[in-house]
Amino acid sequence: MDWKEQYKEKIVSFEEAANKVQSGDHVMFSQAHGEARTLLKALIARTDLKDVVLMAHLHWGHSLYARPDMDRNFIMYSNFLSGPVREEYAKGKVEFLPLYFFDTAAYYETIHRPDVALLTLSEPDEEGYCSFGLSAEYSVALANGAKKIIAHINPSYPFTYGEKIHLDRLDWIVYQDEEVFEAPTVAVQPKEEDVAIGKLIAGEVVDGATLQMGIGAIPDAMLTYLKEKKHLGIHTEMLSDGAMELMKLGVVDNSRKKIDVGKSVANFIAGSKELFAFSDRNPDLLVRGVGYTNDPYVIAQNDNVVSINACIQVDLWGQVVSDYMNDMPYSGVGGQVDFVRGAKLSKGGKSIIATRATAKKGQISTIVSRFPHGTPVTVNRYDVHYICTEYGIVNLHGLTVRERIKALIGIAAPQFREQLEREAYEYGMLRG
Ligand code: COA
Repeated sequence: MDWKEQYKEKIVSFEEAANKVQSGDHVMFSQAHGEARTLLKALIARTDLKDVVLMAHLHWGHSLYARPDMDRNFIMYSNFLSGPVREEYAKGKVEFLPLYFFDTAAYYETIHRPDVALLTLSEPDEEGYCSFGLSAEYSVALANGAKKIIAHINPSYPFTYGEKIHLDRLDWIVYQDEEVFEAPTVAVQPKEEDVAIGKLIAGEVVDGATLQMGIGAIPDAMLTYLKEKKHLGIHTEMLSDGAMELMKLGVVDNSRKKIDVGKSVANFIAGSKELFAFSDRNPDLLVRGVGYTNDPYVIAQNDNVVSINACIQVDLWGQVVSDYMNDMPYSGVGGQVDFVRGAKLSKGGKSIIATRATAKKGQISTIVSRFPHGTPVTVNRYDVHYICTEYGIVNLHGLTVRERIKALIGIAAPQFREQLEREAYEYGMLRG
């Protein structure tokens, strides 16, 4: 079938597509590599619109919608602040939306159906189905819930297996070849502490384990130390270049999984052009919506799930802050809590949260007796499991408060240990 001929009445230019949006609309767009940048650029070039709400999660694009002169023609909602969006949040121009990533599936499908979804899709197969390419995340929920869909079909966007959407479901299509930009994370180099943390975490991964790796340098550093393992599986939110290496080496074969046997499962893919090529029509890889990948009960169906995520601070109760710094949201919860819970429910599972023991060039400890007043907690002390710094890894599950405090002080940077113990008594956390 020549789909472009069959669907020619739906094919429009970027500008025509942008003109379909009306004042007051809630417009939601896919995240990371799935961000329909040129469509967004055409949309925000419109000066006639009022109070259009733009919504997305992890922003990597030009983030033009966050530029200062946008004023209130467009209001940005985000549940994961990155770079430029964070700066605009500080000025009061972005609204922060606290939502577990898993919850976004039901939220956008039924509770808060956007008026318009902007998707980036692959070229369709012979039956007219496009794939969500590198980013299925909440886009699958948008495909089910959005009132209108505008899709940029990009022939350079990889075709992946796992989820699909038919051309019939699309209201307007822009067909244009565009370069898919590499993730900003590709350039991030692990620090010395990340390498030490990576080695410690790798020591907790048994052969046959199924892995989730979160965002940041630490999860990626750990992947380097898994090369001697056997029969690993992947069920993750984000899939990076490091995970690709393990798949290529055969260290990951997904043979010990209980579900999706033989397949690596990811919610979105973030990385280099080599990773894009690897993902394209790769039968060993499924890119699934967040309602599947981040469901703790789905995660828990595999045995020995190890989830590895990074954080900003841990207090002596064992509470974890991963998305808040300097009196402001720094990022977002993403799927951290979904995977903490899923991994803990899995037979033999471990949820590991890692942080460098110090920040600001060693001036402050990331393990603190208590958080600054008003800091929201990401992982509560009942959900927390393993905590890791470059000084060690501890399992807090089942430890008393006294034992937890001792364990956490033991993996704090040595120069802060005495102060932490003193404060634990001062604040009544340790008594007697
Ligand atoms: N106090 C002050 N500054 C701190 C700090 C603290 N306790 N902890 C970190 N910082 C600083 C770092 O020094 C660094 O500063 P720099 O950019 O000047 O070097 C900056 O904050 C970023 O820290 P870093 O540890 O390098 O960030 P990262 O890119 O590795 O990301 C998280 C770490 C925790 C922010 C990130 O993993 C996150 O957002 N997690 C929540 C979501 C999630 O885990 N999703 C997982 C499912 S995919």
